[in-house]
Amino acid sequence: MGKADRKRWDGNVRSMAIIAKADADITADDLSFLRENYTSAGGLIPNAYSGGAFFTPTHVARFIVEALRGLSGGFSAGQTWLEPSCGSGVFLEHVPAEAEVTALELDVTSARVASLLYSAANVIQGDALTHDRRDYYDFVIGNPPYGVNIDIAAEELPDDYVTLTKKARRARGKSEFAFIELAIKAAKPGGYIALVLPKGIGFSSAGAKLRDLTRESCWHIASVELPGTTFAHVGTTISTDIHILRKVTPNARKVHVKYTQAGGGRFVLDTVVQSEPSESTMFWYEGQAPVLHAVITDIGYDKDGKSTDKWDDGLTQLDELLEAFTDTLIRENSDPIAPHKGETHAFSVRVPPHEEWRTKRGEYAYWNVLTLGRGEDIAVDGGSPESSFDLDWQDRIVASHYAELERTSSATITETITEVAA
Ligand SMILES: C[S@@+](CC[C@H](N)C(=O)[O-])C[C@H]1O[C@@H](n2cnc3c(N)ncnc32)[C@H](O)[C@@H]1O
Repeated sequence: MGKADRKRWDGNVRSMAIIAKADADITADDLSFLRENYTSAGGLIPNAYSGGAFFTPTHVARFIVEALRGLSGGFSAGQTWLEPSCGSGVFLEHVPAEAEVTALELDVTSARVASLLYSAANVIQGDALTHDRRDYYDFVIGNPPYGVNIDIAAEELPDDYVTLTKKARRARGKSEFAFIELAIKAAKPGGYIALVLPKGIGFSSAGAKLRDLTRESCWHIASVELPGTTFAHVGTTISTDIHILRKVTPNARKVHVKYTQAGGGRFVLDTVVQSEPSESTMFWYEGQAPVLHAVITDIGYDKDGKSTDKWDDGLTQLDELLEAFTDTLIRENSDPIAPHKGETHAFSVRVPPHEEWRTKRGEYAYWNVLTLGRGEDIAVDGGSPESSFDLDWQDRIVASHYAELERTSSATITETITEVAA
Protein backbone atom coordinates (compact mmCIF):
# COMPACT_ATOMS: atom_id res chain seq x y z
CA MET A 1 0.00 0.00 0.00
CA GLY A 2 1.41 3.40 -1.03
CA LYS A 3 1.71 6.43 1.26
CA ALA A 4 -1.51 8.07 0.06
CA ASP A 5 -3.52 4.86 0.48
CA ARG A 6 -2.03 4.33 3.94
CA LYS A 7 -3.17 7.85 4.91
CA ARG A 8 -6.68 7.13 3.60
CA TRP A 9 -6.74 3.82 5.44
CA ASP A 10 -5.72 5.40 8.74
CA GLY A 11 -8.26 8.19 8.20
CA ASN A 12 -11.03 5.63 7.73
CA VAL A 13 -9.98 3.64 10.79
CA ARG A 14 -10.05 6.75 13.00
CA SER A 15 -13.36 7.77 11.44
CA MET A 16 -14.85 4.41 12.45
CA ALA A 17 -13.81 5.06 16.04
CA ILE A 18 -15.47 8.50 15.94
CA ILE A 19 -18.79 7.29 14.58
CA ALA A 20 -18.88 4.50 17.17
CA LYS A 21 -19.19 7.18 19.88
CA ALA A 22 -22.53 8.34 21.21
CA ASP A 23 -23.74 11.51 19.45
CA ALA A 24 -23.29 13.58 22.62
CA ASP A 25 -19.60 12.66 22.78
CA ILE A 26 -18.76 13.71 19.24
CA THR A 27 -16.83 16.96 19.21
CA ALA A 28 -16.45 19.70 16.61
CA ASP A 29 -12.90 18.42 15.98
CA ASP A 30 -14.29 14.93 15.35
CA LEU A 31 -16.67 16.35 12.76
CA SER A 32 -13.92 18.23 10.93
CA PHE A 33 -11.79 15.10 11.02
CA LEU A 34 -14.62 13.12 9.42
CA ARG A 35 -15.19 15.82 6.81
CA GLU A 36 -11.56 15.81 5.78
CA ASN A 37 -10.56 12.18 6.19
CA TYR A 38 -13.46 9.78 5.75
CA THR A 39 -13.26 8.44 2.20
CA SER A 40 -14.79 4.96 2.52
CA ALA A 41 -13.40 1.96 0.70
CA GLY A 42 -13.40 2.95 -2.99
CA GLY A 43 -10.07 1.94 -4.56
CA LEU A 44 -8.40 1.16 -1.25
CA ILE A 45 -8.35 -2.61 -1.54
CA PRO A 46 -7.85 -3.51 -5.20
CA ASN A 47 -10.57 -5.81 -6.57
CA ALA A 48 -12.48 -5.78 -3.30
CA TYR A 49 -16.18 -4.89 -3.31
CA SER A 50 -16.51 -1.22 -2.46
CA GLY A 51 -20.12 -0.53 -3.44
CA GLY A 52 -18.72 1.94 -5.98
CA ALA A 53 -17.79 4.25 -3.10
CA PHE A 54 -15.58 6.85 -4.76
CA PHE A 55 -16.45 10.22 -3.30
CA THR A 56 -16.64 13.38 -5.39
CA PRO A 57 -14.19 16.25 -4.90
CA THR A 58 -16.03 19.00 -3.08
CA HIS A 59 -15.39 21.68 -5.74
CA VAL A 60 -17.03 19.46 -8.37
CA ALA A 61 -20.11 19.09 -6.15
CA ARG A 62 -20.10 22.84 -5.59
CA PHE A 63 -19.94 23.47 -9.34
CA ILE A 64 -23.01 21.28 -9.88
CA VAL A 65 -25.07 23.04 -7.22
CA GLU A 66 -24.01 26.48 -8.46
CA ALA A 67 -24.73 25.58 -12.10
CA LEU A 68 -28.25 24.62 -10.99
CA ARG A 69 -28.57 27.91 -9.17
CA GLY A 70 -27.80 29.72 -12.44
CA LEU A 71 -30.03 27.53 -14.57
CA SER A 72 -33.04 27.69 -12.28
CA GLY A 73 -32.80 31.44 -11.78
CA GLY A 74 -31.83 31.16 -8.08
CA PHE A 75 -32.91 28.93 -5.21
CA SER A 76 -35.84 29.53 -2.90
CA ALA A 77 -36.71 28.30 0.58
CA GLY A 78 -38.41 24.93 0.86
CA GLN A 79 -37.19 23.55 -2.44
CA THR A 80 -36.73 19.81 -2.35
CA TRP A 81 -33.41 18.08 -3.06
CA LEU A 82 -32.50 14.41 -3.36
CA GLU A 83 -29.00 12.92 -3.17
CA PRO A 84 -29.73 9.24 -3.89
CA SER A 85 -26.32 7.81 -2.88
CA CYS A 86 -24.85 10.46 -0.64
CA GLY A 87 -21.69 8.74 0.65
CA SER A 88 -20.24 11.05 3.28
CA GLY A 89 -22.42 13.89 2.00
CA VAL A 90 -20.03 15.87 -0.21
CA PHE A 91 -22.96 17.30 -2.21
CA LEU A 92 -24.99 18.13 0.91
CA GLU A 93 -22.36 20.63 1.96
CA HIS A 94 -23.29 22.91 -0.95
CA VAL A 95 -27.08 22.65 -0.93
CA PRO A 96 -28.74 25.84 0.41
CA ALA A 97 -29.47 25.73 4.14
CA GLU A 98 -33.17 26.51 3.73
CA ALA A 99 -33.78 23.51 1.45
CA GLU A 100 -35.60 20.26 2.31
CA VAL A 101 -32.93 17.63 1.69
CA THR A 102 -33.32 13.87 1.45
CA ALA A 103 -30.14 11.80 1.21
CA LEU A 104 -30.05 8.04 0.70
CA GLU A 105 -27.08 5.77 1.36
CA LEU A 106 -26.74 2.00 1.55
CA ASP A 107 -23.50 1.84 3.50
CA VAL A 108 -24.15 2.07 7.25
CA THR A 109 -20.87 3.85 8.04
CA SER A 110 -21.19 6.43 5.26
CA ALA A 111 -24.83 7.09 6.15
CA ARG A 112 -23.84 7.74 9.77
CA VAL A 113 -21.02 10.07 8.70
CA ALA A 114 -23.40 12.02 6.42
CA SER A 115 -26.05 12.33 9.11
CA LEU A 116 -23.49 13.58 11.64
CA LEU A 117 -21.99 16.11 9.23
CA TYR A 118 -25.30 17.32 7.74
CA SER A 119 -27.80 17.03 10.54
CA ALA A 120 -30.37 19.22 8.78
CA ALA A 121 -30.68 16.66 5.97
CA ASN A 122 -32.94 13.66 6.22
CA VAL A 123 -30.33 10.92 5.73
CA ILE A 124 -31.95 7.54 5.16
CA GLN A 125 -29.81 4.43 5.37
CA GLY A 126 -30.98 1.81 2.90
CA ASP A 127 -31.17 0.83 -0.73
CA ALA A 128 -31.98 3.88 -2.83
CA LEU A 129 -33.86 1.81 -5.38
CA THR A 130 -36.59 1.16 -2.83
CA HIS A 131 -37.19 4.92 -2.45
CA ASP A 132 -40.73 5.53 -3.64
CA ARG A 133 -41.18 9.30 -3.90
CA ARG A 134 -42.15 10.13 -7.46
CA ASP A 135 -42.40 13.48 -9.28
CA TYR A 136 -41.36 15.21 -6.07
CA TYR A 137 -37.90 16.77 -6.05
CA ASP A 138 -36.90 20.13 -7.51
CA PHE A 139 -33.30 18.91 -7.78
CA VAL A 140 -31.69 15.47 -7.85
CA ILE A 141 -27.92 15.58 -7.61
CA GLY A 142 -25.00 13.31 -6.92
CA ASN A 143 -22.59 10.72 -8.18
CA PRO A 144 -24.16 7.26 -8.09
CA PRO A 145 -22.30 3.95 -7.84
CA TYR A 146 -20.97 2.73 -11.20
CA GLY A 147 -20.67 -0.84 -12.40
CA VAL A 148 -22.21 -2.33 -9.27
CA ASN A 149 -24.44 -5.30 -10.07
CA ILE A 150 -27.96 -4.63 -8.85
CA ASP A 151 -29.75 -7.81 -7.83
CA ILE A 152 -32.86 -7.03 -5.86
CA ALA A 153 -36.18 -8.75 -5.19
CA ALA A 154 -38.57 -7.23 -7.73
CA GLU A 155 -41.24 -6.82 -5.04
CA GLU A 156 -38.96 -4.45 -3.13
CA LEU A 157 -39.01 -1.97 -6.02
CA PRO A 158 -41.88 0.51 -5.83
CA ASP A 159 -42.44 0.26 -9.60
CA ASP A 160 -40.94 -1.24 -12.74
CA TYR A 161 -37.47 -0.16 -13.79
CA VAL A 162 -36.89 -0.25 -17.56
CA THR A 163 -33.14 -0.33 -16.94
CA LEU A 164 -33.36 -3.52 -14.86
CA THR A 165 -34.19 -6.94 -16.23
CA LYS A 166 -36.80 -8.88 -14.31
CA LYS A 167 -36.38 -12.64 -14.12
CA ALA A 168 -37.52 -15.16 -11.52
CA ARG A 169 -38.81 -12.33 -9.33
CA ARG A 170 -35.38 -10.66 -9.19
CA ALA A 171 -34.49 -7.36 -10.90
CA ARG A 172 -30.94 -7.13 -12.18
CA GLY A 173 -28.81 -4.58 -13.98
CA LYS A 174 -26.03 -2.03 -13.64
CA SER A 175 -26.20 0.53 -10.89
CA GLU A 176 -25.47 3.64 -12.98
CA PHE A 177 -28.47 3.07 -15.26
CA ALA A 178 -30.88 2.26 -12.44
CA PHE A 179 -29.78 5.34 -10.49
CA ILE A 180 -30.38 7.66 -13.44
CA GLU A 181 -33.82 6.11 -13.83
CA LEU A 182 -34.47 6.65 -10.13
CA ALA A 183 -33.37 10.28 -10.46
CA ILE A 184 -35.76 10.85 -13.37
CA LYS A 185 -38.65 9.20 -11.55
CA ALA A 186 -38.01 11.10 -8.34
CA ALA A 187 -37.65 14.54 -9.96
CA LYS A 188 -40.77 16.63 -10.34
CA PRO A 189 -41.74 17.69 -13.87
CA GLY A 190 -39.64 20.78 -14.61
CA GLY A 191 -37.12 19.67 -11.94
CA TYR A 192 -33.40 19.34 -12.62
CA ILE A 193 -31.20 16.26 -12.49
CA ALA A 194 -27.42 16.73 -12.34
CA LEU A 195 -25.18 13.71 -11.92
CA VAL A 196 -21.55 12.73 -12.33
CA LEU A 197 -21.64 9.65 -14.54
CA PRO A 198 -19.28 7.27 -16.30
CA LYS A 199 -18.59 8.14 -19.93
CA GLY A 200 -19.95 4.84 -21.24
CA ILE A 201 -23.58 5.82 -20.74
CA GLY A 202 -23.32 8.04 -23.83
CA PHE A 203 -22.42 5.28 -26.24
CA SER A 204 -22.43 1.79 -24.68
CA SER A 205 -24.98 -0.64 -26.07
CA ALA A 206 -25.93 -1.49 -22.49
CA GLY A 207 -26.98 2.14 -22.05
CA ALA A 208 -29.39 2.21 -25.01
CA LYS A 209 -32.55 1.77 -22.90
CA LEU A 210 -31.41 4.47 -20.55
CA ARG A 211 -30.74 6.89 -23.42
CA ASP A 212 -34.20 6.20 -24.81
CA LEU A 213 -35.66 6.84 -21.39
CA THR A 214 -33.90 10.18 -21.03
CA ARG A 215 -34.94 11.27 -24.53
CA GLU A 216 -38.53 10.39 -23.69
CA SER A 217 -38.56 12.14 -20.33
CA CYS A 218 -36.04 14.98 -20.22
CA TRP A 219 -34.70 18.09 -21.79
CA HIS A 220 -30.94 17.81 -21.99
CA ILE A 221 -29.26 20.95 -20.71
CA ALA A 222 -25.52 20.31 -20.58
CA SER A 223 -22.76 17.74 -20.53
CA VAL A 224 -19.35 18.56 -19.11
CA GLU A 225 -16.44 16.19 -19.56
CA LEU A 226 -14.16 15.87 -16.53
CA PRO A 227 -10.49 14.90 -16.84
CA GLY A 228 -9.21 11.48 -15.75
CA THR A 229 -7.43 13.11 -12.81
CA THR A 230 -10.73 14.12 -11.16
CA PHE A 231 -10.89 11.04 -8.94
CA ALA A 232 -7.11 10.72 -8.43
CA HIS A 233 -7.59 11.31 -4.68
CA VAL A 234 -9.42 7.98 -4.45
CA GLY A 235 -7.09 6.16 -6.78
CA THR A 236 -9.11 5.87 -9.97
CA THR A 237 -8.71 7.44 -13.41
CA ILE A 238 -12.24 6.66 -14.55
CA SER A 239 -13.57 8.92 -17.33
CA THR A 240 -16.61 10.81 -16.20
CA ASP A 241 -18.98 13.53 -17.35
CA ILE A 242 -21.43 15.73 -15.52
CA HIS A 243 -24.83 15.54 -17.19
CA ILE A 244 -27.56 18.05 -16.48
CA LEU A 245 -31.11 17.15 -17.48
CA ARG A 246 -34.50 18.66 -16.79
CA LYS A 247 -37.60 16.50 -16.56
CA VAL A 248 -40.15 17.58 -19.16
CA THR A 249 -43.60 18.68 -18.13
CA PRO A 250 -46.47 16.69 -19.69
CA ASN A 251 -47.60 19.66 -21.81
CA ALA A 252 -44.32 19.72 -23.83
CA ARG A 253 -44.88 18.54 -27.40
CA LYS A 254 -42.42 16.58 -29.49
CA VAL A 255 -40.49 18.23 -32.30
CA HIS A 256 -39.75 15.64 -35.00
CA VAL A 257 -36.48 15.99 -36.86
CA LYS A 258 -34.34 14.19 -39.38
CA TYR A 259 -30.67 14.34 -40.15
CA THR A 260 -29.11 15.42 -43.39
CA GLN A 261 -25.53 16.24 -44.30
CA ALA A 262 -24.05 19.36 -45.79
CA GLY A 263 -20.54 20.13 -47.02
CA GLY A 264 -18.02 17.56 -48.13
CA GLY A 265 -14.42 16.43 -47.78
CA ARG A 266 -13.03 16.43 -44.27
CA PHE A 267 -15.55 18.70 -42.70
CA VAL A 268 -18.92 17.20 -43.32
CA LEU A 269 -21.53 19.07 -41.34
CA ASP A 270 -24.50 17.11 -40.07
CA THR A 271 -27.63 19.17 -40.03
CA VAL A 272 -30.96 18.66 -38.38
CA VAL A 273 -34.22 19.70 -39.97
CA GLN A 274 -37.74 19.65 -38.69
CA SER A 275 -39.84 16.96 -40.35
CA GLU A 276 -43.13 15.11 -40.31
CA PRO A 277 -43.31 12.41 -37.60
CA SER A 278 -43.53 9.72 -40.32
CA GLU A 279 -40.16 10.60 -41.84
CA SER A 280 -38.32 11.64 -38.70
CA THR A 281 -35.34 9.79 -37.29
CA MET A 282 -35.44 11.52 -33.94
CA PHE A 283 -37.44 13.88 -31.81
CA TRP A 284 -36.88 16.44 -29.12
CA TYR A 285 -39.29 18.18 -26.90
CA GLU A 286 -40.19 21.71 -27.74
CA GLY A 287 -38.17 23.99 -25.50
CA GLN A 288 -35.01 21.95 -26.06
CA ALA A 289 -32.33 24.61 -26.09
CA PRO A 290 -28.83 23.97 -27.42
CA VAL A 291 -27.05 21.36 -25.33
CA LEU A 292 -24.03 22.97 -23.78
CA HIS A 293 -20.96 20.78 -24.11
CA ALA A 294 -17.74 21.63 -22.37
CA VAL A 295 -14.51 19.76 -21.79
CA ILE A 296 -12.56 20.43 -18.61
CA THR A 297 -8.90 19.60 -19.08
CA ASP A 298 -7.60 20.71 -15.69
CA ILE A 299 -9.52 19.93 -12.51
CA GLY A 300 -7.13 21.85 -10.27
CA TYR A 301 -4.61 19.10 -9.52
CA ASP A 302 -2.64 16.51 -11.44
CA LYS A 303 -2.73 12.73 -11.21
CA ASP A 304 -0.58 12.82 -8.07
CA GLY A 305 -2.83 15.34 -6.41
CA LYS A 306 -0.34 18.21 -6.91
CA SER A 307 -2.04 21.59 -7.37
CA THR A 308 -2.12 23.00 -10.91
CA ASP A 309 -3.38 26.38 -9.71
CA LYS A 310 -0.82 28.59 -11.47
CA TRP A 311 -2.42 31.83 -10.30
CA ASP A 312 -2.83 30.64 -6.73
CA ASP A 313 -6.35 32.08 -6.65
CA GLY A 314 -8.09 28.84 -5.67
CA LEU A 315 -10.12 28.90 -8.89
CA THR A 316 -10.33 26.13 -11.45
CA GLN A 317 -11.73 25.83 -14.97
CA LEU A 318 -15.02 24.78 -13.36
CA ASP A 319 -15.33 28.21 -11.74
CA GLU A 320 -14.92 29.89 -15.11
CA LEU A 321 -17.39 27.55 -16.70
CA LEU A 322 -20.01 28.49 -14.11
CA GLU A 323 -20.46 31.78 -15.89
CA ALA A 324 -21.97 29.83 -18.77
CA PHE A 325 -24.88 28.65 -16.67
CA THR A 326 -26.99 31.69 -17.13
CA ASP A 327 -29.43 31.98 -19.93
CA THR A 328 -27.63 34.87 -21.60
CA LEU A 329 -24.26 33.22 -21.73
CA ILE A 330 -25.58 29.92 -22.99
CA ARG A 331 -27.09 31.85 -25.86
CA GLU A 332 -23.96 33.78 -26.61
CA ASN A 333 -21.56 30.87 -26.46
CA SER A 334 -23.50 28.18 -28.20
CA ASP A 335 -22.22 27.13 -31.55
CA PRO A 336 -24.68 25.28 -33.74
CA ILE A 337 -23.37 21.85 -34.59
CA ALA A 338 -25.26 18.59 -34.80
CA PRO A 339 -23.88 15.18 -33.87
CA HIS A 340 -22.58 12.72 -36.44
CA LYS A 341 -25.40 10.25 -36.51
CA GLY A 342 -29.07 10.27 -35.70
CA GLU A 343 -28.67 7.78 -32.95
CA THR A 344 -25.75 9.52 -31.29
CA HIS A 345 -26.92 11.00 -28.05
CA ALA A 346 -25.70 14.28 -26.70
CA PHE A 347 -24.49 12.38 -23.65
CA SER A 348 -21.38 11.68 -25.70
CA VAL A 349 -19.34 14.77 -25.15
CA ARG A 350 -17.40 14.77 -28.33
CA VAL A 351 -16.69 17.28 -30.95
CA PRO A 352 -17.11 16.66 -34.67
CA PRO A 353 -13.98 17.14 -36.85
CA HIS A 354 -14.94 20.58 -38.06
CA GLU A 355 -15.08 21.76 -34.49
CA GLU A 356 -11.52 20.64 -33.86
CA TRP A 357 -10.53 22.56 -36.92
CA ARG A 358 -12.29 25.68 -35.72
CA THR A 359 -11.37 25.52 -32.03
CA LYS A 360 -8.02 24.11 -31.05
CA ARG A 361 -8.47 20.93 -29.07
CA GLY A 362 -7.04 21.29 -25.61
CA GLU A 363 -8.86 24.46 -24.77
CA TYR A 364 -10.91 23.81 -21.75
CA ALA A 365 -14.30 24.62 -23.06
CA TYR A 366 -16.14 24.73 -26.29
CA TRP A 367 -19.74 24.63 -27.12
CA ASN A 368 -22.06 22.94 -29.44
CA VAL A 369 -25.66 22.48 -30.22
CA LEU A 370 -27.53 19.28 -30.66
CA THR A 371 -30.98 20.37 -31.58
CA LEU A 372 -32.63 22.57 -34.08
CA GLY A 373 -31.32 25.27 -31.79
CA ARG A 374 -29.54 27.28 -34.39
CA GLY A 375 -31.11 30.53 -33.55
CA GLU A 376 -34.00 29.58 -35.79
CA ASP A 377 -37.55 29.84 -34.63
CA ILE A 378 -39.43 26.58 -34.38
CA ALA A 379 -43.17 26.29 -34.75
CA VAL A 380 -44.75 23.12 -33.37
CA ASP A 381 -48.16 21.87 -34.54
CA GLY A 382 -49.05 25.13 -36.23
CA GLY A 383 -48.29 27.12 -33.05
CA SER A 384 -46.45 30.42 -33.12
CA PRO A 385 -42.69 30.25 -33.71
CA GLU A 386 -40.44 30.20 -30.65
CA SER A 387 -36.72 30.79 -30.42
CA SER A 388 -34.82 27.57 -29.90
CA PHE A 389 -31.71 29.41 -28.86
CA ASP A 390 -32.24 29.95 -25.17
CA LEU A 391 -33.98 28.46 -22.16
CA ASP A 392 -36.91 30.91 -21.96
CA TRP A 393 -39.14 28.73 -24.07
CA GLN A 394 -38.58 25.79 -21.73
CA ASP A 395 -39.29 27.97 -18.69
CA ARG A 396 -42.55 29.12 -20.26
CA ILE A 397 -43.64 25.53 -20.94
CA VAL A 398 -42.96 24.56 -17.31
CA ALA A 399 -44.69 27.68 -15.97
CA SER A 400 -47.76 27.06 -18.10
CA HIS A 401 -47.99 23.46 -16.88
CA TYR A 402 -48.02 24.60 -13.24
CA ALA A 403 -50.37 27.51 -13.98
CA GLU A 404 -52.80 25.04 -15.52
CA LEU A 405 -52.48 22.70 -12.52
CA GLU A 406 -53.14 25.59 -10.18
CA ARG A 407 -56.12 26.74 -12.24
CA THR A 408 -57.70 23.27 -12.24
CA SER A 409 -56.99 22.65 -8.55
CA SER A 410 -58.38 26.03 -7.52
CA ALA A 411 -61.40 25.29 -9.71
CA THR A 412 -61.86 22.05 -7.77
CA ILE A 413 -61.52 23.86 -4.44
CA THR A 414 -64.03 26.49 -5.58
CA GLU A 415 -66.42 23.71 -6.69
CA THR A 416 -66.02 21.96 -3.32
CA ILE A 417 -66.70 25.20 -1.41
CA THR A 418 -69.74 25.82 -3.59
CA GLU A 419 -70.99 22.27 -2.99
CA VAL A 420 -70.47 22.57 0.78
CA ALA A 421 -72.15 25.98 0.84
CA ALA A 422 -75.15 24.59 -1.09
C1 LIG B 1 -19.57 7.04 -6.28
S1 LIG B 1 -19.99 7.01 -4.58
C2 LIG B 1 -20.50 8.66 -4.42
C3 LIG B 1 -20.90 9.15 -3.09
C4 LIG B 1 -21.38 10.61 -3.09
N1 LIG B 1 -22.55 10.75 -3.92
C5 LIG B 1 -20.29 11.50 -3.62
O1 LIG B 1 -20.43 11.97 -4.73
O2 LIG B 1 -19.31 11.71 -2.91
C6 LIG B 1 -21.47 6.04 -4.61
C7 LIG B 1 -22.14 5.79 -3.28
O3 LIG B 1 -23.30 4.98 -3.53
C8 LIG B 1 -23.51 4.14 -2.41
N2 LIG B 1 -24.41 3.06 -2.84
C9 LIG B 1 -24.09 1.95 -3.55
N3 LIG B 1 -25.21 1.24 -3.80
C10 LIG B 1 -26.25 1.91 -3.24
C11 LIG B 1 -27.64 1.68 -3.16
N4 LIG B 1 -28.22 0.61 -3.72
N5 LIG B 1 -28.43 2.58 -2.50
C12 LIG B 1 -27.86 3.68 -1.93
N6 LIG B 1 -26.54 3.95 -1.97
C13 LIG B 1 -25.74 3.08 -2.63
C14 LIG B 1 -22.10 3.73 -2.03
O4 LIG B 1 -22.04 3.23 -0.71
C15 LIG B 1 -21.36 5.05 -2.23
O5 LIG B 1 -21.34 5.79 -1.05
